[in-house]
Amino acid sequence: MTSQVRGVQLARLLGQWHALPGRRRSPDYAALAGAVRGLLADGRLPLGVRLPAERELAEALKISRTTVTAAYRELRESGHLASRRGAGSWTMLPGTHRVASTGLWTPLDDRDMIDLGVAALAAPPELLPAARAAAEDLPRYLGGAGYHPTGIIELREAVSRAYTDRGLPTSPDQIMVTNGTQHALDLVLRLALAPGGNVLVESPSYPNALAALAARRARITTHGLAVEEPGWDADLLLGGLRQARPKLAYLIPDFQNPTGHLMPAALRERVVATAHAVGTDLVVDESFVDLPLDGTVLPPPTASFDRHSRVVTIGGMSKPFWGGLRIGWVRASAPQVQRLAAARVGVDMASPVLDQLVAVHLLTDAPAIVAARRAQLTAQRDALLAALAQRLPEWRVTVPHGGVTLWAELDGPISSALARAAEEVGVRLAPGPRFGLDGTLERFLRLPFTLPAADLVEAVGRIAAVRYDLDRGGRSQWREPTVIA
Ligand SMILES: Cc1ncc(COP(=O)(O)O)c(C=O)c1O
Repeated sequence: MTSQVRGVQLARLLGQWHALPGRRRSPDYAALAGAVRGLLADGRLPLGVRLPAERELAEALKISRTTVTAAYRELRESGHLASRRGAGSWTMLPGTHRVASTGLWTPLDDRDMIDLGVAALAAPPELLPAARAAAEDLPRYLGGAGYHPTGIIELREAVSRAYTDRGLPTSPDQIMVTNGTQHALDLVLRLALAPGGNVLVESPSYPNALAALAARRARITTHGLAVEEPGWDADLLLGGLRQARPKLAYLIPDFQNPTGHLMPAALRERVVATAHAVGTDLVVDESFVDLPLDGTVLPPPTASFDRHSRVVTIGGMSKPFWGGLRIGWVRASAPQVQRLAAARVGVDMASPVLDQLVAVHLLTDAPAIVAARRAQLTAQRDALLAALAQRLPEWRVTVPHGGVTLWAELDGPISSALARAAEEVGVRLAPGPRFGLDGTLERFLRLPFTLPAADLVEAVGRIAAVRYDLDRGGRSQWREPTVIA
């Protein structure tokens, strides 16, 4: 059944839509349509929801019905609304779209948009030769059925070798190849967490991981990270584990998304020991482990402190190589891998052989490819930091020494309002509340440095311009986050 949003409800969500920065020169109907698109983009207005009838919304907003009619027409034309005579109008998103790392749907044809919602690099030049070489290898597999639920042996060998080289001895039967790290997380949760189970996560955390937990209807406890290094507070984190005794904890110790923090070795050891003592399984997401910057030396892998198969590690190719490859993996005990493979047969059977062969070729060249990625990320991060220092000096930023994102503390609880305003000037942002659970984090903004430096500098210039517009437009439309005790 389609849910419906009433006129007064939509009016409340829209707030001061006609006063949003960057809209002063646009007609009312365009401003209204833009505000509805903004609500859809930041997830406050769900997809597939029936909007109020034109007359009802006009009354609620105290504007003419023609303005609403024109706004709905524009939304239909831009692909954000589907209407059927006599049945109403539903929210939707334009035909060709993709899911950004923030969970936002974004149109592919929006070429002028600088997309800071996605924290991932374009493919490296080595990808095409790797794909060609993989096609040459494919005949070796064509004589079989092509189903390899744990992954093709060559790739499992390459991945297990990389763990062993990092000081974590691993055999190929401890690896299961998945279609990306997100898929790895979903499979692990299916196996390890009964619906409604108790989970501890960092706050802020990776939005799609939170979505995967929501799909399991997990009951979530959070551990709040500080902006400054090291981010985790040992006493609070270990105390949280002892108190909540969650079934599972999901952590990103290596250049955490979004903060970029790196968990020190001593805390890794204590977290693993405490988790074991209280019966918590740890899911450690190593998405960014290959991307230390500034010569940062990595602490030992979290799983290297594990003596009791408490730690399941997930990782993948998306951040150092390319997200479009859709190759990730789980590292666990061999029996756990067997159970995961059995669970996976009911989901997607196996990963594509050709893509796995591409991954094998890329991993063979990993040292050179990853070194180039780090150099690129360092230069882009520095350009972003310099632009922020120059254009938005009031914002507080801790320099991340790895990963692909920084987490800025803003000069007010303006993150969602800023994201809406920035969209109007061609910059897509993932506002702070996307990385939390309760609508807080309005003082924070994640900024990835995965785009070319020139785009980042241009984006910061545009963000700075609309940020100062927010002040001139008055602050009354943004409320302080409400604390619910
Ligand atoms: C912490 C974290 N986990 C998982 C993912 C998803 O990775 P993949 O593209 O390999 O599914 C991302 C992507 O941004 C991430 O940041």
